[in-house]
Amino acid sequence: MHEVVIAPSILASDFSRMREEIKRAEDAGADWLHMDVMDGHFVDNISFGPAFVGAARKCACVPLDVHLMVERPDHYVPRFVDSAANITVHVEAKHHVAKTLLNIRHAGRTAGLALNPHTPFEEVVPHLAKIDLLLVMTVVPGFGGQSFMPETLSKIAAAAAYRREHGLNFRIEVDGGINAHTAPLCAERGADTFVVGTSSFGASDMHAALETMRAAITAK
Ligand code: DX5
Ligand code: ZN
Repeated sequence: MHEVVIAPSILASDFSRMREEIKRAEDAGADWLHMDVMDGHFVDNISFGPAFVGAARKCACVPLDVHLMVERPDHYVPRFVDSAANITVHVEAKHHVAKTLLNIRHAGRTAGLALNPHTPFEEVVPHLAKIDLLLVMTVVPGFGGQSFMPETLSKIAAAAAYRREHGLNFRIEVDGGINAHTAPLCAERGADTFVVGTSSFGASDMHAALETMRAAITAK
């Protein structure tokens, strides 16, 4: 069993005050910071790139969890290896998935694999023995502030069952619409890593928000 990790998503922060926002998240108890890189092709939004993540690295004490929502993650992974602790790529993107995952590990970083809500669990199965983290998207990626999709819960349960049955050790991360109500539903199915955008940076008291969420998760 993994320790619970709560990773506030920088996408929901005030970019004009990056240093203060990162400090606010760390003071509130963030274990990791989640960074959503979007290229306007793989998803219908453009967020930020390697220079921004590098700047965050200079301000942050906790590990950076970089989520690449880009069409060609194989091409861009090398640009994030200096600043990221974990790099997650999508199974639906245009690349040789196994090779990209191996390259991330060869660079000394942990490798994550993400799947969208409409992608069947079977698509990631061939890679599960070679990843450190499985990211189950709980919204269609591209934008923060969307509502959690309850139909993704069965995928979390399938991933946890597979992990148990095959003696594997990857983390199960959930991302999209996670809050004190939906996080425990995911924890109950086996999620251990929680990305929180709106419900963390959007809270007036982020420390209280994360404490409430952590208590609700660990009660499961
Ligand atoms: C969605 C992103 C998420 C997003 C989560 O495309 O991958 O990481 O920042 O934001 P909330 O928690 O607001 O749904
Ligand atoms: Zn994300």
